Amino acid sequence: MNSTEADNREEELKEIEEEIKSCKKCVLHKYRTNPVPGEGPATAKVMFIGEAPGRNEDLQGRPFVGRAGELLDYLMNLAGLDRSKVFITNVVKCRPPNNRDPRPEEISACLPYLRRQIAVIKPKLIVCLGRFAGSTIFKLARLKWNGMYRLHGRVFESTVEGVPVKIVATFHPASAFYRKEVRDLIERDFKEVIGRLVKELNEGEKGRKTLLDFMD
Ligand code: URA
Ligand code: SF4
Repeated sequence: MNSTEADNREEELKEIEEEIKSCKKCVLHKYRTNPVPGEGPATAKVMFIGEAPGRNEDLQGRPFVGRAGELLDYLMNLAGLDRSKVFITNVVKCRPPNNRDPRPEEISACLPYLRRQIAVIKPKLIVCLGRFAGSTIFKLARLKWNGMYRLHGRVFESTVEGVPVKIVATFHPASAFYRKEVRDLIERDFKEVIGRLVKELNEGEKGRKTLLDFMD
């Protein structure tokens, strides 16, 4: 990819972000301090998708900056990833009052933003954090959602917005605070499954020939 194309993608992401900042398409806009569009490079190979901003995220306008975010950083490291290299966002971009679950009409109002982010970034791997991200992404990928206990840590291949992509769902990091057995499952998903996919992605990058290789 040349730098102009990368710049164009950054610009398109910025445009989506600006639209989110003034969005009033669902009732959640009334409660927000700051919308949380998501962050990371427009050329990220890996996208993490959570549920919705919580209190700290709402105050800072950034995804996963509270306690769940700390755990996510630790988990990403287990998989050989670094926060600065991935794109992190949520299914809904504004915080639901008292951290209640997002409602179906809020998810559908907000979904065009996530779809456009995926279309611009064209990730090779989408990691769904929790059942809201899982059920939403599986639907976009025309896969059947069978519940997190059955589907976590399995690798699916499909297309989302015309982008060929691998998809893995795992439990929401916040749920690890309440249940030790869930924490063990998440750690295993990150270490064994996501870690392996990341390694494959890195090896693919190294092995790929560029035009220069054919120009001697
Ligand atoms: N939980 C989420 O689902 N998303 C965040 O950004 C923070 C906590
Ligand atoms: Fe708009 Fe999404 Fe915020 Fe609702 S949650 S106001 S649809 S940006």
